[in-house]
Amino acid sequence: MSRRYFIAGNWKMNKTAAEAKALIAEINALVGAETAVDVAVCPTFTALDAASQALKGSNVKLGAQNMYFEKSGAFTGEISADMLKEFGTEYVILGHSERREYFKECDCLINKKVKAVLANGMKPILCVGETLEQREGGKTIDVVSEQTVGGLKDVSKEDAEKVVVAYEPVWAIGTGKTATPEMAQEVHAEIRKVLAKLFGADTAEKIQILYGGSMKPENADALLKEKDIDGGLIGGAALKADSFAALVKSAKKLA
Ligand code: PGA
Repeated sequence: MSRRYFIAGNWKMNKTAAEAKALIAEINALVGAETAVDVAVCPTFTALDAASQALKGSNVKLGAQNMYFEKSGAFTGEISADMLKEFGTEYVILGHSERREYFKECDCLINKKVKAVLANGMKPILCVGETLEQREGGKTIDVVSEQTVGGLKDVSKEDAEKVVVAYEPVWAIGTGKTATPEMAQEVHAEIRKVLAKLFGADTAEKIQILYGGSMKPENADALLKEKDIDGGLIGGAALKADSFAALVKSAKKLA
């Protein structure tokens, strides 16, 4: 496979700066020298400084969990691209279902953020995924396609190569319920078709599509074997160095 595997930890609202530093020290010891797989951790904003220092000399990259699209100004509580870049942030998770649900983020806002991340030389990890109700109503492909198209509106073909898409079925996040490898592969293949329509087949082939939703060492091998599953966006299992490292090793075996 020409695409590299990518294992990214989404720490969500967990870990103080001191705790982040300690966890990264453990992760570095286990997978800090990894070269065959792309690896990143995405701590909270308040831990980015400590995390970036702890990642010096490590191959593990730094990501953030959100960003506002404006450059600066009167946007109380928001964080800009320059603020993230100051710490060497390379990835920004955008459009996570928790942000869509609890903070009412729509495709239109997410799209502005995606473009701002790209304009600032960082890589967006655009999350898409259906709720249980949407899945049961047979709407999975429609929902995921609409979120992909909406999130990537007006992104150039050249920039599209820097985008990472994460398919995260909402009903599988933090629930212990994982999509079966076949279910996930079906949606990943559809996402790649949408990407091919938007940017051409060659570009679509280069874009990493991650699976997220209760991915853990026990189910990772089967998911990662699927043709269009290029890695994982990991929540719970990323908060412990040993399980996170085990996921990196699963990907490495297949790389
Ligand atoms: P989970 O979360 O691995 O805990 O299900 C994944 C995510 O929400 O990114």
